Amino acid sequence: MTKIISVINQKGGVGKTTTAINLGCAFANTELKILVVDLDPQGNASTGLGIEVKERNKTIYELMISKDTILNPYIYKSSIKNLDVIPSNVDLSGFETEVAEDGKRAFFLNDVLRPLAQSNQYDYILVDCPPSLSLLTIMALVGSDTVLVPLQSEFFALEGLSQLVKTINRIKQNLNTALSIQGIVLTMFDKRNKLCYEVEKEARKYFPNEVYKTVIPRNIRISEAPSHGLPVITYDKNCSGTKAYERLANEILEQEKQNNTFAA
Ligand SMILES: Nc1ncnc2c1ncn2[C@@H]1O[C@H](COP(=O)(O)OP(=O)(O)OP(=O)(O)O)[C@@H](O)[C@H]1O
Ligand SMILES: [Mg+2]
Repeated sequence: MTKIISVINQKGGVGKTTTAINLGCAFANTELKILVVDLDPQGNASTGLGIEVKERNKTIYELMISKDTILNPYIYKSSIKNLDVIPSNVDLSGFETEVAEDGKRAFFLNDVLRPLAQSNQYDYILVDCPPSLSLLTIMALVGSDTVLVPLQSEFFALEGLSQLVKTINRIKQNLNTALSIQGIVLTMFDKRNKLCYEVEKEARKYFPNEVYKTVIPRNIRISEAPSHGLPVITYDKNCSGTKAYERLANEILEQEKQNNTFAA
């Protein structure tokens, strides 16, 4: 069965998109079939995977609004084998207001993703979310199996995390009882910065089972890659960022085996 994982943190610039792209790519390199759904009006995941703005004729916005059941036109091939994208653009920023009166608005993404998951075309669907806890993110929580949280190793990180966990628990109580946390991954870790170690220690103390062993280092190659429309894994296959995302992918696949929910 396809597993739907949303990459969520309401804080901006913590590495959500970078994680969705590069984890997706690392999975794809192990022959798993991956779909990245760009649920952010900024469209960074689409750009980072090489889908240019002018090519994005069909987007997640249009798919949700039209409730089209023929998905193929919305699914774009990336330059990476086994990795497809449903892109987004700025149209998505109007979505929340447009569906404000619709009592079923929290289920718009669910209604797209669940049938797609049932078709088993993909092993994993990764949803890249915007930096907020508004409707787009709520829809992702309702339409996913699990949540992957990138946590930037900096001062206010944990405060945001407790707010996110509260939101996840609220969604579990009524809209998606099967939702769980896939894991928490520390991002942009700077070995020379003492604060990073403190954040790591606190995160592991409060979430001992959720925080991955793998930590993503701050690495300039990771930040350069998107401007070339490439995941860092393709841009520089030997840099520390690439190695870290490959380790994260392995750690998650190992976790999946242990949970007996290995998708492949
Ligand atoms: N490990 C890293 N090392 C260096 N730069 C990084 C790393 N991870 C992400 N970045 C850079 O930091 C910036 C923010 O990352 P990213 O876009 O992935 O965050 P985000 O959480 O998706 O942001 P937003 O909330 O705006 O969607 C980007 O310029 C990205 O290239
Ligand atoms: Mg992003």
